[in-house]
Amino acid sequence: MQIQFPSSFLWGASLSSYQCEGGNFNSDWYLWEKEKKLEPAGCACNHYYLYKRDSQLARSMHLNSLRFSLEWGRIYPEKSFLQEEELAHYYEVVSTLLSCNLKPLITLHHFTNPIWFANRGGWLVSKNIDFFLAYLRKVVNALKEKVEYWLIFNEPLVYIYNSFIQGIWPPGIKSIRQARKVLGNILTAYSLGYQEIKRIYKDLPNPAQVSLAKHLRIFSPCPEFSLGLNSFSSFLREKIFNFSLLEYLRKRNCLDFLAINYYCKEYVKFNGIFGEECAHKFHWPRRNYLGWYIYPEGLYEILCKLKKFNLPIIITENGTAEDEDSLYGDYLLAHLRSLGKAVLSGIDVRGYLWWSLLDNFEWDKGFKCRFGLAEVDYNNFQRKVRPFAFTYSRICRENKLEI
Ligand code: BGC
Repeated sequence: MQIQFPSSFLWGASLSSYQCEGGNFNSDWYLWEKEKKLEPAGCACNHYYLYKRDSQLARSMHLNSLRFSLEWGRIYPEKSFLQEEELAHYYEVVSTLLSCNLKPLITLHHFTNPIWFANRGGWLVSKNIDFFLAYLRKVVNALKEKVEYWLIFNEPLVYIYNSFIQGIWPPGIKSIRQARKVLGNILTAYSLGYQEIKRIYKDLPNPAQVSLAKHLRIFSPCPEFSLGLNSFSSFLREKIFNFSLLEYLRKRNCLDFLAINYYCKEYVKFNGIFGEECAHKFHWPRRNYLGWYIYPEGLYEILCKLKKFNLPIIITENGTAEDEDSLYGDYLLAHLRSLGKAVLSGIDVRGYLWWSLLDNFEWDKGFKCRFGLAEVDYNNFQRKVRPFAFTYSRICRENKLEI
């Protein structure tokens, strides 16, 4: 069966500043890499200097949208010092995207913070919310005529889990109490930021579409040991990690659309009420390069569960890291089949963005995991379109899917 998408459907890819720009020395991750002796982001993909070529590359693949983030620590290297040239740089980035017919979707916070912000206690301190709002106000005002889609945060629960519960990302804290504090502050920042963006766009002809990118997983009880207890933990994980935040924000009317990032399934084993991730020997069909449990039907299942929110949906990230090209192609097509099935069953999906346009810096895992539609040679920053990306490109150009 063939699905023809509306001409407004967004076919795109996503990026984030710290992972691809290079030279972000004013961000907390820069210090963290040094302290933990991790592979450094360094010049990353040199996208800061190559954004024009990368925009043309995206256009040549027939994408019509690109999601990227702004690096707060570049724009505000000090608490009250606005680096005008960096704001002008992002203005240029957005203008370039538009000139390539690529709709920009901008993320304001994608896991990194300015060093001065982190030194003042970061998201643990409620007074610091004002600094984030000052940055938000400044950049939204500067770009409002050119941008429709704003994502205030990327995956806040992933950020909080890794940075304040697991302690594997900066600031390396392991405390549920602190994590709850951060969650409260981030939710406040989000709600105030949402209102602020709406106020800034009040007199403009086109309204802003505001949301946050929410990471969603399929949680499944591990069939080994105690299935009953594992099911209980799995149910709780789904409730808390997948939907609680969206429900909270939906009730407060501060989501214009759902932006979802979906990658894989997680098996859950009982260990205290929330349980823990566990391995599953017989998972079908396979695991990816990072060991993630690939589960394309999960995208359809998640989209069905999101129906109750009664909001348009954009898939702002979906992708994989592999060591064989055919595996990227299988992943892409299987997930697009799920997307197609959801659209046929009446779910209002408005866009699909692959993570990522380029191979890039995968946080604590460094550069070895490659998610790009284009492969990056880190010796000379050459980009080479992967074979599977030509399939994606054809789908984007034809704006239709065979399922
Ligand atoms: C994050 C990206 C990350 C990707 C792959 C997403 O959840 O937003 O920053 O690179 O997953 O792990």
